[in-house]
Amino acid sequence: MTDQRTLVLLKPDTVRRGLVGEVLGRFEAKGLSIVAMQQRTIDGELADQHYAEHVERDFYPPLRTFVTSGPLVALVLAGEEAIEVVRALNGATDGRKAAPGTIRGDLSVSNRENLVHGSDSPESAEREIGIWFPGL
Ligand code: TYD
Ligand code: MG
Repeated sequence: MTDQRTLVLLKPDTVRRGLVGEVLGRFEAKGLSIVAMQQRTIDGELADQHYAEHVERDFYPPLRTFVTSGPLVALVLAGEEAIEVVRALNGATDGRKAAPGTIRGDLSVSNRENLVHGSDSPESAEREIGIWFPGL
């Protein structure tokens, strides 16, 4: 089976809390490959592109402030069924409801500052990889 690619973000709370190694280690330990990785601080325009499906939602303005609040780490991970595997490791969106054993369930108590992003479909993955790593 051919590898699938997915776009992952270690959001500013992960960097601020010193959890980059912990979170990245879970993806590596699972067996996913790091195809590309970059730390950067993004502006609101890039946030709007990344979260295009959410820009009209009530929760978006504070989310936009949060994702632009400091450096984050953007990654492309690859592996068999990488999209689903990453989302399973990430856990449910709300850290309070995410299952123990998941990244959010173990390390977040927030519905916004939930540490990680993972693409939700092959189409989203290719769209997001194009935004974060043009040409990859
Ligand atoms: P969403 O795509 O629904 O979640 P996921 O990251 O699990 O795919 O939402 C995108 C991000 O928006 C989510 O990670 C955190 C934030 N968010 C809120 O701040 N409040 C909310 O009520 C929701 C649904 C999401
Ligand atoms: Mg999503």
